[in-house]
Amino acid sequence: MPTLVIVGAQWGDEAKGKIVDVLGSQADVVVRFSGGNNAGHTVILGPQTFKFHLLPAGILHPQSVGILGSGMVIDPKGLLDELDRTLALTAEIGELKISSAAHVVFPYHRLLDQMQEEARGENKIGTTSRGIGPAYEDKVSRIGIRMAEFVCPDRFARRLREVAGVKNRLLELFGQPKFDVDELHAEYSEYADRIRPYVADTDILIQDAVLSGKKVLFEGAQGTFLDLDCGTYPYVTSSHPIAGGACLGTGIGPRYLDSILGVAKAYTTRVGSGPFPTEQDNEVGVRIREQGQEFGTTTGRGRRCGWLDLVALRQSCRLNSLSGLIMTRLDVLSGIPELQVATSYRLDGQSLDHLPADVQDLARVEAVYEALEGWDGDLRSARSMHDLPASTRRYLEFVTDFCQTPLAIVSIGPDREETILTAEIWASTPR
Ligand code: GDP
Ligand code: IMO
Ligand code: MG
Repeated sequence: MPTLVIVGAQWGDEAKGKIVDVLGSQADVVVRFSGGNNAGHTVILGPQTFKFHLLPAGILHPQSVGILGSGMVIDPKGLLDELDRTLALTAEIGELKISSAAHVVFPYHRLLDQMQEEARGENKIGTTSRGIGPAYEDKVSRIGIRMAEFVCPDRFARRLREVAGVKNRLLELFGQPKFDVDELHAEYSEYADRIRPYVADTDILIQDAVLSGKKVLFEGAQGTFLDLDCGTYPYVTSSHPIAGGACLGTGIGPRYLDSILGVAKAYTTRVGSGPFPTEQDNEVGVRIREQGQEFGTTTGRGRRCGWLDLVALRQSCRLNSLSGLIMTRLDVLSGIPELQVATSYRLDGQSLDHLPADVQDLARVEAVYEALEGWDGDLRSARSMHDLPASTRRYLEFVTDFCQTPLAIVSIGPDREETILTAEIWASTPR
């Protein structure tokens, strides 16, 4: 009964989309378990580029069922646009199901996201402005509108009116015009009509799939250090991108998780504000951004770039109980003669082997580096570990030794073929 969780092991954009697409060829079910269209997962298939924000990146395999899990917040218009865009590129997609318990993102969430960011002034988080935080706030406050209510016309009309009273008062406080409930209701009822056939009690579907021995892949969004509880709070997202989130956002228990693989770039990037101990706000960072074309899939923002932070990566291995590491974008570092990796931090004269939980302390740490030999040339044609330069293999060995976590996959380019599998991926645990 093999189940496999793929999580981002850093601050997002680690190439989860590519990896889920590669492994999705063997999956019966692929489930997104958290976040919303703040995510941007790129899959490159020959001449075509797919940018998934809500659809699971495994959807390009027609044999698999793609599920949007209960832990997600879903912008209906964004979802339908994405579905249309995807179907315009290929008809070959898997069956789609949407959890009746997932929450719906409305335009007032997006507006409030922007208003709250503006109100934070200097301390803004640098959100994706997709209304993610406000939608999760409504969920926690127990006033959110779930998919089951959204696709039921009477209940939707009643709930929207109920919530509108509160939201319009809030918008007024921010000096914004009120939204017209009837207009919003009319527009969103049309989306609800299109979405209704996909909505199901997916928790049960997923449990049945797991218990009947199907291969179920849980697709994470964002990254470990953007986790609401375990990340660099408050510079985080409002959901649970860590492996534990795969249980919270799908309705399965922790003992049903067999393998958990964490995706990490060979260096580090971060979009938005917040501490980043190995950031290189200099020519090294600029070089990585240019060589790696590090610009956001969702917002187009330039990503902040820096050296690989092994202190953070090791912590990520523990937080997620990773069974293996997937190292991506090794090709991007080609041509840099000497690579630095952070192996500890210094804070107030003390050495630290982990990220301090308090963001103010994390902002003050100084990364302590070890230098490793770089490599040159084009790695993208490598198809086995032996095809990689010896110094690339040594770099990977240093990482896995330091993190005490075995290597599972190496990615040396965005295409499906530019992938080296180094371990059994779908190992199952008897239950
Ligand atoms: P995600 O959010 O984790 O799915 O990652 P994104 O899609 O936001 O960003 C990863 C980017 O790296 C995408 O443009 C991918 O096409 C690209 N990519 C994936 N793997 C590799 C790789 O090994 N090398 C290079 N150069 N690019 C890659
Ligand atoms: P994928 O799935 C990178 C960041 C935002 C911001 C913070 C909060 O593509 O890896 P939010 O809009 O979620 O309230 O923003 O989280 N962020 C991401 N950074 N990759 C992502 O997704 C992200 N999703 C959110 O930049 O700093
Ligand atoms: Mg992304």
